[in-house]
Amino acid sequence: MSSDKKTICIVGGTGAEGSGLAARWAAHGHRVIIGSRDASKAQSTVDALNALTGKNNVEGMESRAGVAQADIVVLTVPFSAQRSTVEGLKDALAGKVLIDVTVPLVPPKVSTVQLPESDSCVVAIQKLLGEQTKVVSAFQNVSAHKLKDLNYQIECDVLVASDDVEARQVAMMLARDAGLRGVDAGVLANSVVAESFTSVLIWINRKYKIPDAGIRITGLSSEEAKA
Ligand SMILES: NC(=O)c1ccc[n+]([C@@H]2O[C@H](COP(=O)([O-])OP(=O)(O)OC[C@H]3O[C@@H](n4cnc5c(N)ncnc54)[C@H](OP(=O)(O)O)[C@@H]3O)[C@@H](O)[C@H]2O)c1
Repeated sequence: MSSDKKTICIVGGTGAEGSGLAARWAAHGHRVIIGSRDASKAQSTVDALNALTGKNNVEGMESRAGVAQADIVVLTVPFSAQRSTVEGLKDALAGKVLIDVTVPLVPPKVSTVQLPESDSCVVAIQKLLGEQTKVVSAFQNVSAHKLKDLNYQIECDVLVASDDVEARQVAMMLARDAGLRGVDAGVLANSVVAESFTSVLIWINRKYKIPDAGIRITGLSSEEAKA
């Protein structure tokens, strides 16, 4: 997919992770729709992001309406709401690329890896949606902490996994447009690594009293990562 300006709907975009990604994509020039269960709740996020970026690229609406208008849908809701949210949008998601950022955290032990029975919660979502929706796993290891600091160089690679090669390229493009480096991590089953690793990063944050530990793939230049 070319780096043209896209319409991106972020379901759960009122939260920390979704609004942070929204800020970076809107600053890059994409049209971003903040999807919420409550359009009026979305409006305060919209106002803050348009003020932050100095552009008017962000709009807010109820998630179903936003998904209908989007080229790309990004899911940033808690694990406990992942399946029910996607079930409710299943027909609207047909024909779209869905980038799932969900981490299967089970409070209160969020610094312990607790994978669901299916192993990967994103693979389970691809099974739920079927072939009509191309599901990609990405951004699980990127802390929301500095996303809204638009010029801050976040030290974290984005592992991108999908069974669809073009969908992987879409997420790689969005990683780049957010000022991050996407790394092709292969098939969707490999998502389980990124989903698990976030609990390890939370552990490291707590242990060393830092806000935003990240991951880097070594031995791969930025030029090679683009290939
Ligand atoms: N925060 C981070 O640093 C970070 C980093 C990497 C990955 N993640 C992952 O990204 C996802 C979002 O994280 P977050 O910190 O942004 O979460 P969050 O603030 O707790 O929630 C995000 C949004 O999800 C919606 N939501 C909350 N509970 C819901 C429910 N029961 N049913 C349906 N929608 C619900 C809400 O939007 P509305 O009320 O507007 O509908 C909320 O604003 C999680 O899976 C998280 O593990 C987070």
